[in-house]
Amino acid sequence: MNKKTILSGIQATGNLTLGNYLGALNNWVEMQEEYDCYYMIADLHTLTIRNDPETLRKNTLELIALYVAAGLDPEKNTIFVQSHIPAHTQLSWVLNCYTYMGELNRMTQFKDKAAKHADNINSGLFTYPVLMAADILLYNADLVPVGEDQRQHLEITRDIAERFNSIYGETFKIPDAYIAKIGAKIMGLQNPTSKMSKSAPDPMDKILLTDTPDDIRKKFKKAVTDSENCVRYDREAKPGVSNLMGIYGIIKNKTMEEIEKEFEGQGYGTFKSAVAEAVVERLEPIQNKHNELLENPEKIKEIYEMGDQKAAEKANKLIKEVYKKVGLVI
Ligand code: TYM
Repeated sequence: MNKKTILSGIQATGNLTLGNYLGALNNWVEMQEEYDCYYMIADLHTLTIRNDPETLRKNTLELIALYVAAGLDPEKNTIFVQSHIPAHTQLSWVLNCYTYMGELNRMTQFKDKAAKHADNINSGLFTYPVLMAADILLYNADLVPVGEDQRQHLEITRDIAERFNSIYGETFKIPDAYIAKIGAKIMGLQNPTSKMSKSAPDPMDKILLTDTPDDIRKKFKKAVTDSENCVRYDREAKPGVSNLMGIYGIIKNKTMEEIEKEFEGQGYGTFKSAVAEAVVERLEPIQNKHNELLENPEKIKEIYEMGDQKAAEKANKLIKEVYKKVGLVI
């Protein structure tokens, strides 16, 4: 039986949050048995902001180790580095010529990032979704597991692919976003109406995957809730409590109704410590495995070299086909 293909990636910016884990990585781990999975380190995408070169290299290697520490088996999944496969940038250029400025102008992430980095609105930031489309289309991915914030990028990927196919005939598979119902948007702990983000200036707003158990407990204790003192799911009226319930629900594999029952008649103090303990319990073994892997750089290299090779085989076939279709001599 032919397995369906999955591709996804995380930017190598460091400081990954619980949002990245619950919105992306955690789902990937669950999908590895059923699908043919390609998980990349999006290092080229990070060039859209200014990085210290040494830090970027370190973040890239650490992210590979994190994928494995979180439970991705490097034998079952193709774990690779985006910049090691030149076909990504090659396809990105071609697709740029089939993407309209108007489409890119509508991207909310571009608008947000441009506002945040007003002194560096470079054209890479503008065409960022085209490189992401290339990442996905190169592997004929059926499904792309991401958080809610990437939905619009998946839509533009489909539009670009359909446009290309309609001109040159069936070339790209049209991918679907795979966005979990709960956990697709983990919100900030201090500001539960906006997503938990690596770049949030307030450290209390985000749980980092490298946080110590004490940090995690402290941050949940201080998390913003409301004055009702009743554990009840209502995203609109109770965004803080609902966000904590979402976090707890994913980790404990419980529905919102089950959580409401579990904490019936109990105050927020008890509930918050239960959420904190669930997160600590989940993250501690990942952190330990991560630290262990970081002591073995040879192993990390072995992992990405194996993945790079498998990824290149697939990507090189597709880029050749695309070059041929658009009229390049190959
Ligand atoms: P990035 O690196 O910003 O985020 C990685 C993944 O984490 C998800 N995520 C969240 N999910 C739930 N709640 C949150 N608060 C939260 N914050 C982040 C994101 O939705 C994402 O799934 N452009 C992508 C990286 C990328 C990519 C790709 C993804 C490059 N090429 C191809 C899929 C396919 C990005 O910046 O993700």
